[in-house]
Amino acid sequence: MKKIIAFAGSNSKQSINKSLVEYAASIINDSDFEVLVLDLNNFEMPLYGMDLELRDGLPETAKSLFNHIQNSDGILISLAEHNGAYTAIFKNAFDWMSRVNAKTFANKPMLLMATSPGGRGGESVLAIAKDRFPRHDARIIADFSLPMFGTHFQDGKIVDETLNTELVHKVEQFKNVINHGS
Ligand SMILES: Cc1cc2nc3c(=O)[nH]c(=O)nc-3n(C[C@H](O)[C@H](O)[C@H](O)COP(=O)(O)O)c2cc1C
Repeated sequence: MKKIIAFAGSNSKQSINKSLVEYAASIINDSDFEVLVLDLNNFEMPLYGMDLELRDGLPETAKSLFNHIQNSDGILISLAEHNGAYTAIFKNAFDWMSRVNAKTFANKPMLLMATSPGGRGGESVLAIAKDRFPRHDARIIADFSLPMFGTHFQDGKIVDETLNTELVHKVEQFKNVINHGS
């Protein structure tokens, strides 16, 4: 059984990125794959600070989230974009986890996504992550941006055929790498 972890870079209870990640997980649709959808709200961490780290060490929740990554066979992430960058909750978790292990993404195959209500579909945060994550041992197999979430995503799925085909193809690529290593 292949273990996939999936999470959104958001702390919104109505996160559109969580909806996208859940949809991508549903496309995997393979009895050899088990997908665990995580919620960053369940990994509460104090605001990162060097003084705090020196005083109290690393939060158990940061170690736990990193362990989920390390024990997985692949990662599905969809990043929310705030002011052209990571959300505060994601950046904070990333900073803490990078102190647990600088090889934060543990060379696990990753499907990296982003969505937003606007026309750019989180392209800015996606570009930041595509540049940065590989420096932390991310193995990005494919990336996917869903613009205009409210128009293109309805009733739990992508309703634009071209965008849906693109995601289905990228999920297949992701699965193939996990199954066959390339
Ligand atoms: C503080 C703030 C900044 C935002 N900045 C951007 C932005 O730079 N680009 C963008 O496309 N959307 C931006 N948005 C809109 C978010 O994309 C939208 O709230 C989206 O639902 C966030 O994803 P989530 O629902 O998964 O949390 C911003 C929203 C907030 C609250």
